Amino acid sequence: MTIEARQQKAESLLRAAGILPVVTVHTLDEARKVSAALLKGGLPAIELTLRTPVAMEALAMLKQELPDIVIGAGTVLSTDQIEQSIAAGADFLVTPGTPAALAEALAAAPIPVVPGAATPTELLSLMAHGFRVCKLFPASAVGGLAMLKGLAGPLSDLKICPTGGITEDNAADYLSQPNVVCIGGSWMVPKAWLDAGDWDKVTESSAKAAAIVRKVRG
Ligand code: 3PG
Repeated sequence: MTIEARQQKAESLLRAAGILPVVTVHTLDEARKVSAALLKGGLPAIELTLRTPVAMEALAMLKQELPDIVIGAGTVLSTDQIEQSIAAGADFLVTPGTPAALAEALAAAPIPVVPGAATPTELLSLMAHGFRVCKLFPASAVGGLAMLKGLAGPLSDLKICPTGGITEDNAADYLSQPNVVCIGGSWMVPKAWLDAGDWDKVTESSAKAAAIVRKVRG
């Protein structure tokens, strides 16, 4: 598959998701339960961060046990993690930022990728590698809605997944931007709820998020 085809696939995956919960798990049991709770609420796609020792094993386990969930490996920082994530069955890859060597490795990866950037110059570097579906991170810290509106003119071909600082209250505003393909965030899966096993709260919050997607996208 060409990078154009893989980016097209990334756009389709993200557009179908609308809202991408950014999930960090500390045990396999937690991974199972939070994924089931998100699915029950109506969010079938997640970004599973590679920030904990169990993350890669959790990714492989979820792909085996819950094949209906679309899983992006998140916080991908190295070529080793690209290879391991693909071997574990990741549907796509997400990075928080994308230095040149990582961009080259991602451009050659056989699955869809959503590389992260925080400035117009970084986004232009990614576009020069052939990417046109990118994550804006940390979105609220680098200008939020004003930044997205500002990027829409000069980088009009770019589809963006803003992540970082988005909440239930402003999710609809972000998702309504014409250059936004999807939004990411952890507000449906805060650590306190996972620690307490409050799976009903995860389901309730993800149901609200799914309703926001339906309302904005129709
Ligand atoms: C992250 O990578 O931590 C995500 O961007 C989530 O950001 P949030 O916790 O501000 O939603």
